[in-house]
Amino acid sequence: MSPNNVKTNILLTGATGYIGGEVLSQLLEHPKFSSFNITALVRSPEKAEKIRALGVQVVIGSHTDETLVEKLASDADVVIATADADNLEALRATLRGLKKRYEATKVQPALIHTSGTGVLCDTAFGKYATDDIYDDLNPDQIETIAPTQPHRNVDLEIVAADKEGYVKTYIVLPSTIYGISTSKLAELGIQNPYSIQIPALIKNSIARGQGGVVGEGKNVWPHVEISEVAEIYVKLLDAVLAKSNPGHGREGYYFAENGEYTFSVLGKRISEVLVELGKGTNPEVITVSDEDAMVLANYGLASNSRCRANRARTTLGWNPKKTTEDFYGSIKAELEAVLKRI
Ligand SMILES: NC(=O)c1ccc[n+]([C@@H]2O[C@H](COP(=O)([O-])OP(=O)(O)OC[C@H]3O[C@@H](n4cnc5c(N)ncnc54)[C@H](OP(=O)(O)O)[C@@H]3O)[C@@H](O)[C@H]2O)c1
Repeated sequence: MSPNNVKTNILLTGATGYIGGEVLSQLLEHPKFSSFNITALVRSPEKAEKIRALGVQVVIGSHTDETLVEKLASDADVVIATADADNLEALRATLRGLKKRYEATKVQPALIHTSGTGVLCDTAFGKYATDDIYDDLNPDQIETIAPTQPHRNVDLEIVAADKEGYVKTYIVLPSTIYGISTSKLAELGIQNPYSIQIPALIKNSIARGQGGVVGEGKNVWPHVEISEVAEIYVKLLDAVLAKSNPGHGREGYYFAENGEYTFSVLGKRISEVLVELGKGTNPEVITVSDEDAMVLANYGLASNSRCRANRARTTLGWNPKKTTEDFYGSIKAELEAVLKRI
């Protein structure tokens, strides 16, 4: 990014994870890959070796090592953070490093951070579908989100840093990401190929032999397929490098969704697949126990979270193709994969 530096220094955290592995796989195929100087911060020495073999620099360490994170960020033109939406200290270390980068180069580096639409969670407990739908092209509406909401403390510090002027910040907020990754890093056994919420719901359902919902399961969440969510990161990087001035700071929230699902429909689908696979007998959905409701609530599965990814579509040209039918249709493969793992 700096005029004296032909290559763009990119620091990536979470490269062995579901999101980060997908992003790195797409960066490996990027037409400008040879102009990227990617450094991945990775914990596993074995996986580090495999990533190095792909032409990526690797530093072995944890993002809990704040000195290391600060140093790595101080060398970066762009930080893509996919390891942990909620690690405030890692974020602060990253920002300290990026500030040093700015002071040294007088060019604002970019931070592309991963948050999540869990920030929009309400207390529906399955009783209703909310009409509150957040539009990421409406920063005034985004600013009404309470600071006590999940991920929000981190997101607010990111936007404050952008306002200070030493960094341009972009926050990607994936919704329920689904699909078993088939990326290059997943194929090589480097990347975790599985998501979080759907496998958790499926595990809970397998234990019961029936799909379950909290309350009446009327609550609604958005969904997005794993390779399509990674495209947002790549398109953001492209826009940053092209200096096309994508929305940043308070205008830099990018929801990732391509449709919505209702938990009662999802629960019924899980019940049907359990019956089909001989792991259940009742194709209907049941209200879960209070104990299971608390487990599911911890994954956001008792709440509503509704938004529209208008910013990525209109300003980045993001054009996801997967449908809500694809989302429901992914359940059988997810269930078979969970059955193999338990
Ligand atoms: N999956 C979703 O549907 C979704 C949706 C919205 C938001 N998010 C958020 O996005 C973030 C990433 O999610 P994910 O699904 O990609 O999770 P994941 O598959 O568990 O990946 C997490 C990645 O972060 C790395 N990591 C964790 N702690 C680290 C540390 N102390 N130092 C260095 N690396 C560390 C992991 O490395 P190891 O391989 O060493 O463990 C792994 O590469 C999470 O905060 C999650 O809440 C996820």
